[in-house]
Amino acid sequence: MSGAPATVRWSARSRDARETAAIGEALGRAAPDGALILLEGPLGAGKTTFAQGVGAGCGVREPVTSPTYNLILRYAGERPFTHVDLYRLGDPSELETLDLDAILEASGVTCVEWPELLENQYDAPWARVRIDPEAGHAGPRRILCELAGEEWEAAVAALAGHGELAG
Ligand SMILES: Nc1ncnc2c1ncn2[C@@H]1O[C@H](COP(=O)(O)OP(=O)(O)OP(=O)(O)O)[C@@H](O)[C@H]1O
Ligand SMILES: [Mg+2]
Repeated sequence: MSGAPATVRWSARSRDARETAAIGEALGRAAPDGALILLEGPLGAGKTTFAQGVGAGCGVREPVTSPTYNLILRYAGERPFTHVDLYRLGDPSELETLDLDAILEASGVTCVEWPELLENQYDAPWARVRIDPEAGHAGPRRILCELAGEEWEAAVAALAGHGELAG
């Protein structure tokens, strides 16, 4: 069958940063090889917190820090984890220097904060994670996840304990 892959939508509520990271960890551990996880949400929503969990799920033991000034940070882990933050991308042409194509063709998992500039440019198995604070900075977050394609089957199962399928 051809056409767009079936997309699973799933939602959760995270009460604190630890829970956001735990959801990221479950997703990272079960993500398919070459996965591209797009992390959307306003300033301070918890995108880096979620990415830190994904890194833990990939078996990264060193601290995962925010790549805001580096644009890209890579970790060996049990499998490679790449963390990209495009907030300070000056010009879209800078994307070429990141060589994301090569990273996505290899094994491992990649998270991208502020991914709006990447939209539709990659055909890796992708997921979109939208994080929104419900109230203030320290409050709970609404997390909406779209997982495109059957490569994410194991991840959908792994997320079952954290939230629910969304219509
Ligand atoms: N439920 C929650 N989930 C995630 N973070 C939370 C939550 N509650 C409070 N926080 C706090 O909110 C902040 C989120 O910061 P984080 O750097 O992860 O956000 P970000 O979306 O990456 O920000 P930026 O837009 O600057 O990249 C942290 O200080 C974290 O402790
Ligand atoms: Mg961040």
